Amino acid sequence: MNVKELFLAHLEKNLPKVQSFHPFFNQALEQMLKAGGKHFRAQLLLKVVESKKPSLLNVALDAALALEFIHTYSLIHDDLPAMDNADFRRSIPTLHKSYDEATAILVGDALNTEAFLLLCRLNLKKSIRLKLIHTLALNAGLRGMIIGQALDCHFENKKLKLKELEFLHTHKTAKLIAASLKMGCEICELSSKESKKIYEIGLKLGLIFQINDDIIDVTMNEKDLGKPTHHDTQKNSFVNLMGLEKALKTKEKLLKECDLEKLDSKLAHNLKNLIQQYL
Ligand code: IPE
Ligand code: IPE
Ligand code: MG
Ligand code: MG
Ligand code: MG
Repeated sequence: MNVKELFLAHLEKNLPKVQSFHPFFNQALEQMLKAGGKHFRAQLLLKVVESKKPSLLNVALDAALALEFIHTYSLIHDDLPAMDNADFRRSIPTLHKSYDEATAILVGDALNTEAFLLLCRLNLKKSIRLKLIHTLALNAGLRGMIIGQALDCHFENKKLKLKELEFLHTHKTAKLIAASLKMGCEICELSSKESKKIYEIGLKLGLIFQINDDIIDVTMNEKDLGKPTHHDTQKNSFVNLMGLEKALKTKEKLLKECDLEKLDSKLAHNLKNLIQQYL
């Protein structure tokens, strides 16, 4: 099995649930996780572990699951009427459409906190678990994705400078992607120097990921993408600030500058595969 298949099997067996008399909360809790997605962040973590210490792959699966929980929570909240107001995600109606806003908010909250519970319970020594929790909290929380999302929502209809948009994209998307690689490094106990180098590459990769997401909003259709397209009209997106052609050129330029050759050949090869598939 490759890491994607391993992860999908693990996800299916470990969907979150709670005991209660709520008529549909468990169904809502698993709905977006079961709906698909690329599992890009989970795969990044697992590719690092596969390249550096494959014997730890089984232990790493729960850390990858934590990343998928955080990412899925961020999408559920991102789609809410108060944020991007989207009705469609991963080719099915968004949770606030299938159920109601309270359910969508609470499922997001649950996935956010469950992620940290998974990391607390990992079968790894305490010092590593603490590092993983720290990395995820720093990058997905206030100093990472949250301030990015806050800037994204606040500055709708107000044009940002390109440097400001780069800050926004780096926070809302790139930091979690970089953290996914870093968490792989932490599980494998790589040196802090190597881990830092890989994190920096992750930030570049993450920025490219969001630029690409801005591009596919205008170049793809809703059916193929599984989420609404032409939805970023009010947003600061790379396409809106510089036009499609320049956004495409910037993506290609940044891909060339991604420094994957600074990594050992196995990891570089594994990451290139993911980039080719999704970017
Ligand atoms: C979408 O993320 C939100 C962004 C940060 C661009 P993905 O494109 O990884 O969404 P899924 O997980 O494949 O649905
Ligand atoms: C979302 O960015 C980034 C998150 C932190 C969830 P977008 O708003 O561009 O993501 P999509 O296009 O809805 O997937
Ligand atoms: Mg958004
Ligand atoms: Mg959105
Ligand atoms: Mg988008």
